[in-house]
Amino acid sequence: MNKTMGDMFLLDPEITFLNHGSFGACPKPVFKVYQDWQRKLEKQPVQFKTEILYDGLKHSRESLSEFVGCHEDEIIYFPNPTTAVTNVIYNLNLNPGDEILMSNHEYGALVRGWKEWGKKTGANIIQQDISTPATTEDKFIEEFWKGLTPKTKVIFLSHITSATALIFPIEKIVNMAREKGILTIIDGAHVPAHIPLNIHELGCDFYTGACHKWLCGPKGSSFLFVKKEHQDWIKPLVVSWGSDGDDPTPSTFLQDFQWQGTRDMSAFLTMPTAIDFYKKEIRPYQAACQKIIQYAYSELQSTLNSLPISPGGSWLGQMVAHPLPSQKNPDLKEKLWKDHQIEIPIFEWNNQRYIRISIQVYNSKNDVDLLMSALRSLL
Ligand SMILES: Cc1ncc(COP(=O)(O)O)c(C=O)c1O
Repeated sequence: MNKTMGDMFLLDPEITFLNHGSFGACPKPVFKVYQDWQRKLEKQPVQFKTEILYDGLKHSRESLSEFVGCHEDEIIYFPNPTTAVTNVIYNLNLNPGDEILMSNHEYGALVRGWKEWGKKTGANIIQQDISTPATTEDKFIEEFWKGLTPKTKVIFLSHITSATALIFPIEKIVNMAREKGILTIIDGAHVPAHIPLNIHELGCDFYTGACHKWLCGPKGSSFLFVKKEHQDWIKPLVVSWGSDGDDPTPSTFLQDFQWQGTRDMSAFLTMPTAIDFYKKEIRPYQAACQKIIQYAYSELQSTLNSLPISPGGSWLGQMVAHPLPSQKNPDLKEKLWKDHQIEIPIFEWNNQRYIRISIQVYNSKNDVDLLMSALRSLL
């Protein structure tokens, strides 16, 4: 661990934490503000709702929308990307035979969501093969676009993939889809505060991002961007008070989504603090984190004596995934944790076992060396 940076986080300093990508990690000053919001709520719950909550949410939407490049009334908060994207899926009016085009790298829980809606509507889910090793943007586009047919109604694509940890060059695909009148839903769970994001420049219809991953917000902070032209037909799955409630915003869309019954919105209200913390304490060190990832990328190849799934460079941010030998040491994850106190995800993707390293500011090159030495002893 990088001791100076590590001290700012709540993480146990005794462990080697190489799994920021799964659930993030919250810095102490951000967590404190989160708890302060909870205390404010408990002091006078009724006044909090009427006098404080909606102003706080507006400020939070303003801060986040500026950060991700959209308007404050195009952002709604959700606890996680699964609920955000599901809320779009279940509003889609699909007919039997319609097609949803996605890659074979999409996040499993969301693929399940799409398949459920496919069963209900008769729409087909097309998981287009994006082969590894990834090589060029042109090859990526060519492989993905092969899945397009006259029946394609929606494109669902990760901006940074979960299992393979690849930054997908999605910009041209979004443009091409728009020209054809195909809706684009982008899963950017790993994107906010990981790579630069400007949703308006990207031009997609819907975008979700997790704020508790790389932005280091409290758990349960994520957002959904909905382009203005779609706001009249995207309805919340949980219908609550909406325009009959206390939300003073002039937007029916926001009124419908913001109050969903009694719930703790402290994580949403903490976003301006998380963004300030990111700008001051994380962003200046991200280039160093990316350097460590490129180091990990080559160390994985030499330690495991196998080929990478991308040429590195712009395909990688602060994560890298690499194939593991399938047969050796089936309990590898458990051994790394129990014997070496290394927390790292190991999982199956596309019939192959993988390991994924995440590097955040609290990590150091030494964490990668500890992992390589443990892998050498266990494989
Ligand atoms: C690419 C991607 N999409 C969506 C999600 C969903 O996140 P959650 O399970 O918190 O909804 C994740 C979680 O890691 C992810 O990596």
